[in-house]
Amino acid sequence: MGTFSATGISVPPDASARIDPRMGDEEIPRNVIVDLAKRPALHPHIVTFANEKGGVGKSTLAFHVAIALAHAGARVVAIDLDRRQRTLERGLSYRNGTAGNLGVALPMPQFGVVDQPSTACLYQTIARLGADADFVILDAAGADSPIFRRVVAMADTLVTPVNASFLDLELLGRVNPVSGMPDRAGCFGQTVAALREEKLAQNMGRIEWVVVKNRVRAAEKRHMSRIDDALARLATANDFRLSKGLSERLAFRELFQFGLTHLDLGLIPGMIRPQASTCEEVSTLVADLGLSFQQHDSAQAASLPARRVLRHTRHVFREALSAAL
Ligand SMILES: Nc1ncnc2c1ncn2[C@@H]1O[C@H](COP(=O)(O)OP(=O)(O)OP(=O)(O)O)[C@@H](O)[C@H]1O
Ligand SMILES: [Mg+2]
Repeated sequence: MGTFSATGISVPPDASARIDPRMGDEEIPRNVIVDLAKRPALHPHIVTFANEKGGVGKSTLAFHVAIALAHAGARVVAIDLDRRQRTLERGLSYRNGTAGNLGVALPMPQFGVVDQPSTACLYQTIARLGADADFVILDAAGADSPIFRRVVAMADTLVTPVNASFLDLELLGRVNPVSGMPDRAGCFGQTVAALREEKLAQNMGRIEWVVVKNRVRAAEKRHMSRIDDALARLATANDFRLSKGLSERLAFRELFQFGLTHLDLGLIPGMIRPQASTCEEVSTLVADLGLSFQQHDSAQAASLPARRVLRHTRHVFREALSAAL
């Protein structure tokens, strides 16, 4: 375990890549899958955003993808697994407030946070928010844990954002600096491989794994080609697909307080035009994930209806939003 292929170049053993014995027997991938097999089958397509590395953009991507799918007319449930930070949950509740304060209709995922890090609580939350949704978006916290393994295992599509740094890539696998070849599995890569294998063995379907470069800066071209080569080789070794990814843009974070994305600006009368390049990056990401669903008639697509608002409230809120852009 832990080595992709012999390169002739020795590498030190990597203790962190082994499954942590302190986690207990229930965390052995086989038992994670057996636990899921006992649960009722889920109808929605499960899209899990996960990486054991923190701060790589899981919540940012989950938020943008959830909203883009809702814009496309899908019924979306978004669940935050991080009970402390609650980034995804907070962003979506700010969105509720924005729609109310501006008196506009916005495409809206159903959303919630898991109160307990247990499989039972997660399944109850899905059932409460919309077992008949087209998609359930799960935003995992950035560390291994029992519930982390379950949301990875539940994924029909697993999305792993990475920053363009060899330090981040090591969680997928180590690329030998001399040969350029992957020579050791990373801790997260190894967990995903074991869960995928076990899920297939139990006839519970395939986890489609997509790795997304995030926060790419245009100025780092030379460095980027080494990262791209390494990612392409890790993709073959780990059997994941690569998405074109998102660049580093203010536009992906400036509207968080309002729960908005640039996709929404066109729905707000009198607001500045959305940045076409930002919207295009999000659309390309959603297309790269290959998520499809059957269109509903518009009455079924989840949207917050426009509410009546005092003119003054709308005015001051709009001023604050304009100042943030
Ligand atoms: N493409 C991007 N452009 C600009 N800023 C970004 C981008 N993606 C993420 N960020 C910023 O990077 C930081 C980390 O993002 P985020 O919270 O989404 O990561 P995370 O992986 O969910 O973190 P955690 O592991 O703590 O849950 C935030 O400040 C976010 O606004
Ligand atoms: Mg997060």
